[in-house]
Amino acid sequence: MHSFQGITIFYAKGFKASWPGRLGFFLYAPFLGIILNRPMNLLENKVILVTGAGRGMGRGIALALAQAGARVAAGDLQLDGVEETIGMVEKTGGSGLAVSLDVTQANTVSAAVEQIVQKFGRLDGLVNNAGVVRITPAIDSPPEERALQFGVNVEGVFICCQIAARQMISQGDGGTIVNIASEAGKVGHMDMAAYNASKASVISLTRSFSMEWAKHGINVNAVCPGGVETPMLLDVAKWIAKRDGGDPHKIVKTLHPPQLGRNIQPIEVGRAVAFMLSEHAIIIRGQSVNIDGGETPY
Ligand SMILES: NC(=O)c1ccc[n+]([C@@H]2O[C@H](COP(=O)([O-])OP(=O)(O)OC[C@H]3O[C@@H](n4cnc5c(N)ncnc54)[C@H](O)[C@@H]3O)[C@@H](O)[C@H]2O)c1
Repeated sequence: MHSFQGITIFYAKGFKASWPGRLGFFLYAPFLGIILNRPMNLLENKVILVTGAGRGMGRGIALALAQAGARVAAGDLQLDGVEETIGMVEKTGGSGLAVSLDVTQANTVSAAVEQIVQKFGRLDGLVNNAGVVRITPAIDSPPEERALQFGVNVEGVFICCQIAARQMISQGDGGTIVNIASEAGKVGHMDMAAYNASKASVISLTRSFSMEWAKHGINVNAVCPGGVETPMLLDVAKWIAKRDGGDPHKIVKTLHPPQLGRNIQPIEVGRAVAFMLSEHAIIIRGQSVNIDGGETPY
């Protein structure tokens, strides 16, 4: 059985066709496949900003959104990483824009949104992916580390949501926002109290924004990944190696969801985000959906 975007062709037992009919089917089947077996264009022509897209999960999300038909604006602190991401998008036939922004600085986010609207005429979606982690026992946690994590992970999400929502409201036809929270926002972890609290705040902001902006047709959800193979996960592995010994590159492979048995890849997160940004997720509202390979099965 082969599935092409909802069309299923069965080779049923007892299927009867004349030999010319069978020959015709086998001649045309590959062309049917080329026509129908294309990626689902869930986000055809939607203009979507992904923050923190210069590497890691943000890059995977940008690529998956472009594969789903979106025009992607990739934003990050430095332009070189996002230019590389957009280069990858363009290689696969997509179109995009690299913008520099600091999610904690409203003026840089507003300037990035202006650039996007200048190039594409509108903004349909936002993925709040930029984030930072510091791993320190709570007893030793310095205020600067907490300020950094709450600044980027919480205030940064607030600022970007506010600026994007204002733009969407001015356009008058709604939009979608997906916040990258974490399974860490739903459970406790050793030595990550501030990070986990910041991600719990993202889950909370998602609920409130979805209620406030539903009347403008803006759908706001979050996803909660866990164990995604990115530079951030390697940083976590390096910290574990410093504490317990061992090779961080080996340790990182063990930081995977037990049900899946391997690290999640950034593009896999991106595919779930593409769905959450699409019309197909219109009945999912204000939720924080676990996409963690079964790490937290509840
Ligand atoms: N990797 C995981 O296992 C995992 C699991 C759950 C959630 N997350 C979350 O996913 C998101 C992406 O994580 P990642 O693993 O790709 O991390 P990463 O460190 O590899 O990438 C984060 C990106 O965010 C950018 N960034 C940091 N501060 C910024 C700021 N002020 N303004 C703009 N950009 C900024 C960085 O430059 C970097 O490119 C984060 O929010 C993280 O908390 C990661």
